[in-house]
Amino acid sequence: MQRFEAYLRANIPKAPSFHPTFDEALGAMLLAGGKRFRPQLLLSVVEAYTPLLLESAYPVAMAVEMLHTYSLVHDDLPVMDDADLRRGEPTLHRRFDEVTAVLVGDALNTHSFYLVADAPLHGDVKIALIKELAYSGGIGGMVLGQAIDCYFEGERLSAEQVDFLHEYKTGRLIAASLKMGAIIAGLDDEMQRRLFEFGLDLGLLFQIQDDIIDATQSSEDAGKTTGNDEDKNSYINHFGLEGSINRAEELAKKIAGQLEGFDEPLRAKLEPILKRYLYRHRV
Ligand code: IPE
Ligand code: IPE
Ligand code: MG
Ligand code: MG
Ligand code: MG
Repeated sequence: MQRFEAYLRANIPKAPSFHPTFDEALGAMLLAGGKRFRPQLLLSVVEAYTPLLLESAYPVAMAVEMLHTYSLVHDDLPVMDDADLRRGEPTLHRRFDEVTAVLVGDALNTHSFYLVADAPLHGDVKIALIKELAYSGGIGGMVLGQAIDCYFEGERLSAEQVDFLHEYKTGRLIAASLKMGAIIAGLDDEMQRRLFEFGLDLGLLFQIQDDIIDATQSSEDAGKTTGNDEDKNSYINHFGLEGSINRAEELAKKIAGQLEGFDEPLRAKLEPILKRYLYRHRV
C-alpha cells in the first residue's frame, strides 16, 4: 500500500490556469489522506490472483478513491451535512468556497473515469470497470443512497429502509471495489458476484461503524466533523449504541466466516485489512 500511496501522490490531477486556487483545491482532499480502504480491497483481489497486473491496476484503484473523495467533498457541503472538518483538515468549502468545493467534486468524479479509460488494461476490461464504477458510484449505489439520506433527514424510515440507505450510500461502492479487482484479475462471473455480495456485508458494517464513530468520537479523533447525525436515519438513532454495536458484531462474525471460504491467496491478502477494520466499532 505504500507503493500505491506513492503512486497516488505522484499522480494527483492537475488543472493549471490563471484561477488562483482551483488547482490546489483539486488535489487537497486526495492529499489529506484517509484510510484508502476501497483501493486496498481492489488491489488485494488483483494481487491475490494476478500479481503481474498490480501496477496496471493502480490507476483504477486511484479512480475509486477519487470518486469516493468526490462523494466526501459533496457530502460535507452546507446543503448536505454541513461539516467543517474532513481527513484532519478544514473541508474544501471552508478552506476555499462552496463553488470551488462543488466543482472540485465534479472534477474528481469525471476524472475518475478518465483514469480508468487511460489504464494499461484491455478495452473490454475497462468498459466493464467503467460500468461498475458508474453504476455503483451513481444511481445504483452512492448517489441514490445520498439522495435518500438527505431527503429523509428528520423523517423516520423503517428498519428495512435504513439498511437500504446504508447499502446504497456506502455498501455498493465498497462491493464494487472488490468486484472491480475481480474484473481486472479476470475472475469469472460467479466469483465477481461472490465478492460483490461479500462487499455488501462489509460495506454495511463499515457504515454502521461510521455511525458509531459519529456518536462516540470527537471530531479531533475522527479527523472529521462528528456528532453530526442528529437528524439522520443513522443506525444509532434507530437501534441505539448498544444495538448498533451488536449488529456490527454479528456482521463482523458473518464476514469473518465468509472470508474462510475464499481461496487461500485471497484470504491472505484480505485478512490483514479486515483485521484492521472489522472490529473498529469496539469502542
Ligand atoms: C467515510 O468514508 C464515509 C463513508 C462512506 C463511511 P471513509 O471512512 O472510507 O473515509 P476516508 O476515506 O478514510 O477519509
Ligand atoms: C456519507 O456518509 C457516505 C458517502 C457516500 C459520502 P456520512 O455522511 O456518514 O459520512 P461521514 O461521516 O460524513 O464521513
Ligand atoms: Mg452524509
Ligand atoms: Mg457526512
Ligand atoms: Mg458518518
